[in-house]
Amino acid sequence: MLKNLTDGLITGFDRALRTVAGVHGAGRASPAAGVAEGALDDVARADAAALMRVNHVGEVCAQALYQGQALTAREPRNRRALAKAALEEQDHLAWSAERIHELGGRASLLNPLWYAGAFALGAAAGALGDRWSLAFVAETERQVEAHLSGHLERLSPEDRKTRAVVEAMREDEIRHRESAIALGAAELPAPAKLGMRAMAKVMTTVAYRV
Ligand SMILES: [Fe+2]
Ligand SMILES: [Fe+2]
Repeated sequence: MLKNLTDGLITGFDRALRTVAGVHGAGRASPAAGVAEGALDDVARADAAALMRVNHVGEVCAQALYQGQALTAREPRNRRALAKAALEEQDHLAWSAERIHELGGRASLLNPLWYAGAFALGAAAGALGDRWSLAFVAETERQVEAHLSGHLERLSPEDRKTRAVVEAMREDEIRHRESAIALGAAELPAPAKLGMRAMAKVMTTVAYRV
């Protein structure tokens, strides 16, 4: 038990450093690879870069949340599911970083801060027990899915590369939500959902700029 926890913390710390430093490889090739770059004007390009910075921050938080939760999950089955989702989130992290670069933007300067906050939140959710931890996953993924759908409405139809990344991430997030529910996620009370939405609003507004 202690060895597991120590190993988890060491792996976790390593991953934290990589996430914040922007060193992470994707297991799956980016969905944007092989898609032709569309003709974007400067405004559309800058907007897409900022939206992808927001998504990248979301994926930094996903790394931290899932890691905090995987460390605290009681059931090995749940720990495995959380670890599997975390791997897919790592792909999202790499894909969105790559796309920000291609669009000429940069990642958020506040990433270490986002990471630390989300890790604490993940560990706190995990401490409440698996059903609530999974409830938190399900609601987070539901909100991320809605958020990505908003991006798909806003992104230029010409920007097929960014759209390919956002669409693939949304498909994964839908599966993460479904898997959390299948594992027995509780339903969060409405005020908790509202609180999460308010926090996400602050995060997305700040990350769009910084
Ligand atoms: Fe993701
Ligand atoms: Fe996800």
